[in-house]
Amino acid sequence: MRVTLAQISIPLLVVALHVSYVAAVKDYLFKNCENSGFCHRNKHYADQISSLGSEYKSDYSIDANSVEVISGPDKFFIQGQIVKVLPNLPEEKVVLPLKISVLEGNNIRIQVDEAKREAINIANKFINHQRYNETSNWAFVNQELQYVKTEDADLKKSDTKFSITYGKSKEYVAELEFYPIKLTVYHLGEAQVVVNDRGFLNVEHWRPKDANADHLSPQESDFNMFQDDFKDSKEDSLPLGPESIGLDFTFKNFRNLYGIPEHADTLNLKDTTESNNPYRLFNVDIFEYETDSRLPMYGSIPLLLAVKPALSVGLFWINSADTFINVDKSNSTKDSKTHWVSENGVIDFIILIGSTPAEINKNYGAITGYTQLPPLFSLGYHQCRWNYNDEKDVLDINSLMDQHQIPYDTIWLDIEYTDSKKYFTWQEDKFPDPEGMLKELDLTGRNLVVIIDPHIKTGYDVSNQLEKKKICMNDPSNSSYHGHCWPGESVWIDTLNPSSQSFWDSKFSWDKKNKFTGGESTNLHLWNDMNEPSVFNGPETSSPKDNLHYGGWEHRSVHNIYGLSFHEATFNSLVKRLDGHTRERPFVLTRSYFAGSQRTAAMWTGDNMSKWEYLKISIPMILTSNVVGMPFSGADVGGFFGNPSKELLTRWYQTGIWYPFFRAHAHIDSRRREPWVPGEPYTSVIREALNLRYSLLPVFYTAFYESSTNGSPIMKPIFYESLNNLESYSIEDQFFIGSSGLMVKPVTDENANDITIYIPDTEIYYDFTNGDLSKVGWYNVRKPGYIRKDVTLHDIPVLIKGGHIIARKERYRRSTKLMANDPYTIVVALDKYGHAEGNIYIDDGESFGYSTSGESINVHIKYSKDGLTAHVNGSNKEYINSLGNIGIEKIIIISPFKLIIENPKLKINSDWSIQIILDIEHDEL
Ligand SMILES: *[C@@H]1O[C@H](CO)[C@@H](O)[C@H](O)[C@H]1NC(C)=O
Ligand SMILES: *[C@@H]1O[C@H](CO)[C@@H](O)[C@H](O)[C@H]1NC(C)=O
Ligand SMILES: *[C@@H]1O[C@H](CO)[C@@H](O)[C@H](O)[C@H]1NC(C)=O
Ligand SMILES: *[C@@H]1O[C@H](CO)[C@@H](O)[C@H](O)[C@H]1NC(C)=O
Ligand SMILES: *[C@@H]1O[C@H](CO)[C@@H](O)[C@H](O)[C@H]1NC(C)=O
Repeated sequence: MRVTLAQISIPLLVVALHVSYVAAVKDYLFKNCENSGFCHRNKHYADQISSLGSEYKSDYSIDANSVEVISGPDKFFIQGQIVKVLPNLPEEKVVLPLKISVLEGNNIRIQVDEAKREAINIANKFINHQRYNETSNWAFVNQELQYVKTEDADLKKSDTKFSITYGKSKEYVAELEFYPIKLTVYHLGEAQVVVNDRGFLNVEHWRPKDANADHLSPQESDFNMFQDDFKDSKEDSLPLGPESIGLDFTFKNFRNLYGIPEHADTLNLKDTTESNNPYRLFNVDIFEYETDSRLPMYGSIPLLLAVKPALSVGLFWINSADTFINVDKSNSTKDSKTHWVSENGVIDFIILIGSTPAEINKNYGAITGYTQLPPLFSLGYHQCRWNYNDEKDVLDINSLMDQHQIPYDTIWLDIEYTDSKKYFTWQEDKFPDPEGMLKELDLTGRNLVVIIDPHIKTGYDVSNQLEKKKICMNDPSNSSYHGHCWPGESVWIDTLNPSSQSFWDSKFSWDKKNKFTGGESTNLHLWNDMNEPSVFNGPETSSPKDNLHYGGWEHRSVHNIYGLSFHEATFNSLVKRLDGHTRERPFVLTRSYFAGSQRTAAMWTGDNMSKWEYLKISIPMILTSNVVGMPFSGADVGGFFGNPSKELLTRWYQTGIWYPFFRAHAHIDSRRREPWVPGEPYTSVIREALNLRYSLLPVFYTAFYESSTNGSPIMKPIFYESLNNLESYSIEDQFFIGSSGLMVKPVTDENANDITIYIPDTEIYYDFTNGDLSKVGWYNVRKPGYIRKDVTLHDIPVLIKGGHIIARKERYRRSTKLMANDPYTIVVALDKYGHAEGNIYIDDGESFGYSTSGESINVHIKYSKDGLTAHVNGSNKEYINSLGNIGIEKIIIISPFKLIIENPKLKINSDWSIQIILDIEHDEL
């Protein structure tokens, strides 16, 4: 039984990075910092202040007398006033109310508003001229944040500063200096984050246009304060003039920053000072986007993580307006400096501190919510294209999947299924019987996802009702805004308006007359696209910023949460429709998103191209999404635009099986490319990849369960498990799956014959390539480094880290639903001390029973010198008993020697233990 294929680590061959310049064909469509009014002005301001150095005397100070502590049973915060002086108007002072709260989880929140906004006098009476402060209403899962109790914090105030000491062992201090204003957060006496370190705090207060000159300070530029000179934005009336906010944050001794998606760029954030090309957060329809770019994309999550071995910091900038983030990692210091500017709204941010990035994920999720536990089918394979043309086409694809023994769960319909792009209708001659089609798919447990977008074609009952009910996005004169999108002239539902929900619900309700829902079909789910919103004739392909939403808020203020408000409305409607049925967990895919979107939707990275560089960039993009609490994400397998080569398509499947959301999609002008189209050997290789995904669904589902309780990534960067190894901080072509120990390095190069895999620590790693355990190759490196492996077209390089136990289901079935009662195989991978443990989460995969009546189990399996034991944890006895016919058919124990226990006659729903004596001296390793 001594099977040792010990492989020796091969020193890293330095691979010269080939950086190819991709012509920036999109630049002219989208603003950069130079030609964006508020970014340009804040950059100018920051440059002026930097060049003045210590001679600069800030216009901002905190009025020491105003600072007071407000406390009560469920609240505890410090309030005060920031005062801004105007050098040319010594009599006038701008008052900026300040609030500092200490929240549970060692989070500290700062809010700064502007007083006197009520007094604004402008011609347009429809506009709400307060600063928009409701972003948190959309982003937070629970508006009632938990405050630290007054007695758990020590407060100290003097004439020049105020300090708060907090944390379990009082390890944190937040110190606020009054002039110049500076907030420093210390951990164990060491400064970690300094707010306004460089003095870039800027709040462009309200001023009338004709008095603007008097309101400017010498450091300010008046570039585009009351007009917008950018290409398609010239019509922006900027009714409230300049309103931007800006602030700088220095992360002390941090060099590795992550997050702030969405950008087609590296995992580890880049320095943006040299290129003057800051990361921009502004949801736009950037079709055929480029890689290596800080241009904005479809969604935005303003959460940045700074990570170093012993400590991680999160900065959550709660603002839904157009935002730029400049990152300065120049090597003159050991710090990373960032400068955040938003076009308007209040200053509102939370600083989160924890010992690991996982702790930041947990604390951030406690504020914005964790990812929903998706229905199990949605972790299977999704087959999409623009478009499957008619019922016959859909059902043919459905049976071809079976003929070719390709497992899949969901087929998708893009916009062409509708009658003239009128959502909630079917093109009747092509889809005469949606109910029958849904029933046919349901026979094998399959689902249909159809697209519904927020632009509603004018001139039919849905848009007529929207206009009549006055729940559209409005133009500046407060009449419904008309623009262009797929259907031609359209209006946009205003899902920020609470009245929109009941209207939206009615469109999804099971009414016999509502053919759209396919009768009472429970296997119809939704795709929300174009919700940035995409407006073909609008500035930067989106809505004019001076359009109006519910409450009189300008679109400018709410732009980045519009997409969230739309997909959340869809999710809410589906939950209501399915209430009381068994298959009641809805699935919604969204293109546009914001912090909080994880609660109700999956996302994908939009319109990529069928090119190798897009296959590669998909990994850091999805990793970034996972790092900021939006793990249910994927990219179009095969690439959206163009025709992938057979090899690229195959490699994309082999990568895509690891995306939390796994869907193949293709543009209407591309050739058909379902798995059987490329032919042999490709089809067999794709089938093997799909079978691997399906066999590992218990691993993915368990990872989703964990993420739904603690915000942990599902596709997880390597550095999460090797925080002491700084070299691992920039690895972005390799990842773990949840806490399973599976470490994957997909092949993303054309004609690859070999691949290098980074081993980040000195634990044992076992070869798990293609999920195959028949050859027990293993690696045990003395120090972190690269190993080289030969690969063929068949190979999906995977290792499993010693110390982990995972469950698989190994039979081919046509869909996840048909796998429900299949037996499990347990894989135990021993670490260097001969230990391993793991968890398997199980529920019915489709109802809310797991949350409403405890219908779930967690099976905890542990290997130690006494053998293997399983403990079933669950609270609902009836549910536990109902799993009685699901067995464990095989246990595979891998150490440098392999042991298989066939048919151990065990059940998944009961406790057991088996004694195993392995003849290994682990400390020899
Ligand atoms: C603007 O229109 C909305 C309906 O779209 C309406 O509810 C609101 O009252 C209008 N605002 C004013 C100030 O009339
Ligand atoms: C926004 O500001 C208004 C006016 O000051 C206040 O009444 C409201 O509670 C604030 N909302 C939030 C979510 O902070
Ligand atoms: C970093 O520092 C080195 C020398 O200390 C210098 O050669 C290099 O140009 C610096 N890089 C940047 C981006 O400033
Ligand atoms: C799909 O294409 C877009 C660009 O069009 C790209 O950003 C995205 O990452 C691509 N997906 C993958 C998996 O590469
Ligand atoms: C079992 O579940 C309970 C609550 O659901 C939890 O507190 C406990 O830690 C779990 N035990 C194990 C061994 O997982």
